[in-house]
Order: sequence, then C-alpha cells, then structure tokens
Amino acid sequence: MTAFLECSNIHKYFGGLSALIDVSFSLPQGEILGIIGPNGAGKTTLFNVIAGSLKPNKGTVRFRGRDITDLGPDRICRLGIARTYQLVRPFASLTVLENALVGVSFGRSELPPRSERIGHALNALEFVGLAGKAHQKAQELTLVDKKHLEIARSLATNPEIILLDEVVSGLTPTECTRVIETIRGIQRRGVTVIMIEHVLKVVVELCRTVMVLNYGSLIARGSPSEVVSDPLVIEAYLGNAAVAEGGHA
Ligand SMILES: Nc1ncnc2c1ncn2[C@@H]1O[C@H](COP(=O)(O)OP(=O)(O)O)[C@@H](O)[C@H]1O
Ligand SMILES: [Mg+2]
Repeated sequence: MTAFLECSNIHKYFGGLSALIDVSFSLPQGEILGIIGPNGAGKTTLFNVIAGSLKPNKGTVRFRGRDITDLGPDRICRLGIARTYQLVRPFASLTVLENALVGVSFGRSELPPRSERIGHALNALEFVGLAGKAHQKAQELTLVDKKHLEIARSLATNPEIILLDEVVSGLTPTECTRVIETIRGIQRRGVTVIMIEHVLKVVVELCRTVMVLNYGSLIARGSPSEVVSDPLVIEAYLGNAAVAEGGHA
C-alpha cells in the first residue's frame, strides 16, 4: 500500500556536519506524529526537507506515492503540505486578515474567486479564535496569538499535512492548553499533523507516535511512554530528569 507520507534514507549535510543521517519513516493519514530530540538534532532540518526549502543530499520524500523531493516549497505547499516556523514571523505590518489571505493565495486548490477569499481567510481565523482581531496589525498580537495566526495562515492553504515547529515554545501553561485544543481541532478537520515539540506534556497528550532524533539519526519510535523509557533516548538526554518527569525534552 502506498504510504501517505514517506521519507526514505534522507541524508542532509551542511559542509562537514551531518544534520540528517539515513532518516526513514512513514506516516499514516490522520495521525499526529511527534518529533522530539535535543537541540541541534536535525528536527527543523527534517521539516525543511519535507517542505522543500532544503534539498537532501540523498534520499526521497514521497507524498501519496509521488516523489516530491525535488519540488520547490511553493509547489509542495500547493500539493497540500503546509508548515509553521519555529520563530514566528507573521508579516508584521499586514493585518491579521491579510496574513491569513496570504495562506489562501498559496493554497492547495485553485485560487478561489476573489469574493470567496476573505471568507476562507476568516474561517481559518475563526478556527484559531482570532476572527475578532482580523483588522489588527499582526505585530500588535501577543505571542500566543501570533502563534495561532501562524497556524491559521497554514490552515488557510487548506493543507492535508501541517508541520508545526515548536508551536508552544515560550508560552505559559494556560496558553499551551489553548494550543493543544487547537491542534486537536486540526486533527478533527482531517488534517495530518507532524509536530516538533520540546514540551513533553504536549507530545504525551496529543501524539500516538513519537520519533526521537539525536545527532541527525532516528534513535527511537513508539508511543510517548515507550519512547521516554527507552534507554537510548534517556542516554541522548544524558539522563535528563526532565524526560522522566515530563518536563522539557
Ligand atoms: N542552513 C544551515 N546551514 C548550516 N548548518 C545548519 C543549517 N541549518 C541547520 N544547521 C545545523 O544543523 C544541525 C541541526 O539543526 P536543526 O535542524 O535546526 O536542529 P533542531 O531543530 O533539532 O534543533 C545543527 O547543528 C545546526 O547548526
Ligand atoms: Mg529546530
């Protein structure tokens, strides 16, 4: 059977540094997959490779059986893979609504008629609780709202897969809870999610499957509880008590 998303034997080098080493995994449609690992493990690089903003030195990415490895990020977005950035970067001087409209313009389907675009953008904003702030400038938003705007802009592309890069970093526990609810909602919409996350609580609550990257290699894959009790994973975090205690990974 054709996998929904499949990365096979991905290698990515930056000069002499191996950021990804022989990374292979596949993902069924509808799942929320978590990716954890220490800083510099290659997590964001893997997202860049899937989303087309970096080309791997070796290996292939297939989406619904189609080899997308050599496609550019705009083509990949139009095929249905959207992403957010670890450092949020809304178009600061645009309004919240205009930011969401950018997502609509880069969307999967044919560009909807002008009259419908605002409706699509507002839907995405409504979904993340930002419809009431549609006419504010993006730069005026709080961090948690900026993160939701980033999610809304990605959702406005009408994706099949959304790649979330550390969306809860820097947020308070209450704000985290709001993001968790948003991500549950994304899954209910039928969108498949891959999330890079430092806060283990979020991974444990949301993900059936977690993969662990360490120095560019996938060292474990399983349920959150399997993964955090895996000796290789514990070693990767140097016995970091945070893993066992469910704190920051
Ligand atoms: N564009 C780049 N050029 C050179 N080195 C990079 C680049 N992007 C990432 N790296 C390096 O690759 C490694 C993995 O980085 P990254 O994927 O950002 O890790 P993570 O997201 O897991 O913290 C790090 O050593 C980082 O410094
Ligand atoms: Mg990163």
